[in-house]
Amino acid sequence: MTKELNAQLDELQEKIYDQTLEVFGPEVFKRWKEPAYMGRMKNPHSYARLTGSCGDSVEIYLKFEEDRVSEVSFFSDGCGPSVVCGSVACELALGKDVENAASITGEDILHILKGLPEDKEHCAYLAAQALQETVHGYIKKNVT
Ligand code: FES
Repeated sequence: MTKELNAQLDELQEKIYDQTLEVFGPEVFKRWKEPAYMGRMKNPHSYARLTGSCGDSVEIYLKFEEDRVSEVSFFSDGCGPSVVCGSVACELALGKDVENAASITGEDILHILKGLPEDKEHCAYLAAQALQETVHGYIKKNVT
C-alpha cells in the first residue's frame, strides 16, 4: 500500500513539474525548485514586507557594507512566482550600491525570468517594490 501510494505521489509530482515547466518556462522552473536566498534574516540592516492586492506578501532583508548590499534574503507566503521573484530580486540586489539596488524594477525581474504569464506579472512588481522599500529604509536611516 505504501509503495503504491509513493508511486502515485511520485507520478503526481512529475505531472506538477511538467506543467510548471510548460506554463512558466525553464528560468522560472529551476528557481521555483531551488529558490536561492529564501529565508528570513536575523538582524538585517533593513527589512520591508509588502502585501499585494492578491493577498500574498513578500519580505526582503538586506545587510550593507559601505552602502553596498552585502547580504540578501527574502521570504514569501504567496504563490510560486512570488517566491521566484523574491529570489531574483535578491540575486539582482546583491553587490549593488544603494542607488542601483533601489532602481531594480519589476521589468528587470521579468527580463531575467523571460516573462511570466500576464496574471502573474504583478508578482515581479511586488518583489521589486519590496526591495525598493527595503533599500529606501536603509537610505533614510544611514545615508546622508
Ligand atoms: Fe500575488 Fe503572486 S504575488 S499571485
